[in-house]
Amino acid sequence: MKVITALFVVLGSVLFGPAVADSEHKTPTASPKFLEMSNPYDVDDVDEFLKSAKKIYKKKCKKCHGKQGDGKGSSADDMEIKPTAFNEPGYLESRKDGQLFWITMEGSEGTDMEGFGPGTDVNLSEEELWKVITYIRSSFTK
Ligand code: HEC
Repeated sequence: MKVITALFVVLGSVLFGPAVADSEHKTPTASPKFLEMSNPYDVDDVDEFLKSAKKIYKKKCKKCHGKQGDGKGSSADDMEIKPTAFNEPGYLESRKDGQLFWITMEGSEGTDMEGFGPGTDVNLSEEELWKVITYIRSSFTK
């Protein structure tokens, strides 16, 4: 009898585990080493920096995160785990630059958020990653 009960528990978690995991999905948190990072690049000309950052955002991020950073890009419709809405009040204040940098570099496992950092298909340099994060923060903070 005990064996059968155990079997049901195992079977139950196999059948229902993933569904539960999805509805409780949480973006992983970066390690302390990343959390304390901030943009290490000198920004002499903010306008120029943000202009080239906007280009990266438009090309690589907009289709999911949306033009307004609302997570409603053209590819977002049929995603189970939706792209983060950066313009949600308080959202960007709750996230450190190092967290945004880490996820953009590494991606968020089990979601459509792939890694964009050095060595990935898109292969953004660390400077480009910092640019796009600076752009996101300066354009979508609410
Ligand atoms: C194919 C769709 C897609 C593209 C393209 C995309 N993202 Fe995402 N992004 C997602 C999804 C889905 C999530 C939610 C991940 C989660 O819930 O763990 C996300 C989450 C994030 C987060 C949230 C991290 C956190 O800790 O809250 C950041 C930052 C981010 N993306 C940055 C970017 C940047 C920068 C680009 C462009 C270089 C980009 N994304 C392109 C789908 C995408």
